[in-house]
Amino acid sequence: MNAKVLGLGRALPNRAVENIELEGVVETSDAWIRERTGIERRHLSTGETTTDLATEAARRALEDSGLAPEDLDLIIVATMTPDYFMPATACLVQKNIGAHRAACFDLSAACSGFVYGLSVAHHFIRSGGSQNVLVIGAETLSRSVDWTDRTTCVIFADGAGAMVLGASTDEGVIRCTLGARGDDQNILSTKAPGLQNFLLAGKPLEDDPGPYMKMDGQTVFRFSTKIVGESIRETLKGTGYSLGDLDWVVPHQANTRIVDYAASRLKLDRSKFFMNVQTTGNTSAASIPIALAEMKEKDVLHSGDLVMLTGFGGGLTWGSALIRF
Ligand code: UT7
Repeated sequence: MNAKVLGLGRALPNRAVENIELEGVVETSDAWIRERTGIERRHLSTGETTTDLATEAARRALEDSGLAPEDLDLIIVATMTPDYFMPATACLVQKNIGAHRAACFDLSAACSGFVYGLSVAHHFIRSGGSQNVLVIGAETLSRSVDWTDRTTCVIFADGAGAMVLGASTDEGVIRCTLGARGDDQNILSTKAPGLQNFLLAGKPLEDDPGPYMKMDGQTVFRFSTKIVGESIRETLKGTGYSLGDLDWVVPHQANTRIVDYAASRLKLDRSKFFMNVQTTGNTSAASIPIALAEMKEKDVLHSGDLVMLTGFGGGLTWGSALIRF
């Protein structure tokens, strides 16, 4: 059986924050943020938790799919900002939506997390282990950034997106490929509260990295512009499809300039790349399903479209998925 996309949903916190409002928080400017990232505004939580946003996105995706909560047999939440280490966010969502039959777990692959979760769902459905799977990407990154660090706090944001997949004989998820390079673990990291140092030394060390996200932006930028093209080409291999067959590429929403470079390297029409980072900021694992749900709401994503999803980020990790909608 194939994993067919049955429904999509998204949830953003009500509070939209314009770039100009950040000028009072760190030394930055609306012009710099727009020029270097493409971002114009983002949504930040005013108390909504990762679970709240994941639950709302899940409800909308379920409604869109026509399935009942008890039809779900697996819930995967991709997040790097879970509300707790334990229980998993997926268990909290299960309770909120009443999906009592579903097995639940969280998945940690940073900004590639949604594509990793989708790949797991695809394999569960193909193997017959699951019939209907809910995959959610959800983040409250405003809790994870250092609000005195202008290299991260003007970029990252909050939100959730969800996808319901069901077993079908129709073409659905065609191929997923994933990758990781743990050698580059320090380029983008959130070493929550110095746990590893504590374990190694039996007590916190002076160079405790602290609880906030840290990013070597330029290095991640160079990695991202290269890996997007490589990962897309790798995923098309053996499928019988080529770049020219794609109706859409939906990349992780990190930076419009990364997508400009990737499109020109692939020699692929830039208008095939859907971007909404302008209004959402970078929501890490949530960014791809938020973009897909917005495309469906705007009626630019249609049944039968051939779409490539591509994620990249901390780990370092990356992954792409080719899907017939
Ligand atoms: O989602 C996971 C994956 N993450 C990404 O894909 C992010 C990849 N990286 C990027 O998108 C970009 O590297 C950034 C948007 C983070 C930064 O853009 P950049 O063009 O690489 O800027 P930069 O780090 O080279 O900094 C350029 C200048 C520096 O000043 P000097 O040294 O030229 O005087 C920075 O200090 O911009 C300065 N700067 C800022 N200025 C105003 C850095 N952050 C800011 C800021 N406002 N917020």
